[in-house]
Amino acid sequence: MASEGEGREPRGALSIQTLSMPADTNQDGDIFGGWLLGQMDIAGGILACTTAKGRTATVAVDAMTFRKPVYVGDIVCLYADLIRIGTTSIAVHVEAWAIRRNEMARQLVTEGNFTYVALDDTGRPRKVDAGLEAHLPPRRDPSQKQPR
Ligand SMILES: CC(C)(COP(=O)(O)OP(=O)(O)OC[C@H]1O[C@@H](n2cnc3c(N)ncnc32)[C@H](O)[C@@H]1OP(=O)(O)O)[C@@H](O)C(=O)NCCC(=O)NCCS
Repeated sequence: MASEGEGREPRGALSIQTLSMPADTNQDGDIFGGWLLGQMDIAGGILACTTAKGRTATVAVDAMTFRKPVYVGDIVCLYADLIRIGTTSIAVHVEAWAIRRNEMARQLVTEGNFTYVALDDTGRPRKVDAGLEAHLPPRRDPSQKQPR
């Protein structure tokens, strides 16, 4: 698993790019998994709420794999890719890639699938426009290289 993600490009579009800070560490000085999970949730949530054109809530997180640690000072890049639009739900694959200090290459550090539910004003599930998927940009083949 150490070489997982090497030799391919991130899946999906860049949603967030941020810097891991000392405030994001756990009691041992390592970057806290909960911080990264939160960033991934936000990254997937941006795709979900723009797709749903409104409020969404995270209902499930699946298949989370923390492959490599994140260190203080890493540039963390969060990519989101639409998996599925259901009746009221939207599933998004999210990947976190890290660029270590003084390095240029990205490494896949964590990935997982997030499910969001479109909500109405009262917080109840609302239907996502069924024809919306046709209007989304075409999904990119992650095996194809693209400029950084
Ligand atoms: C989101 C919420 C309103 C959904 O209410 P609900 O009564 O469970 O709604 P439903 O059972 O109709 O499910 C809604 C959709 O979510 C999907 N869903 C529900 N639980 C799921 C799960 N564990 N995994 C994947 N999808 C799930 C359903 O399949 C359905 O999708 P579809 O309409 O596309 O078929 C409710 O669960 C809730 O408020 N949860 C808390 C959300 C929250 O606060 N998130 C932030 C946590 S800090």
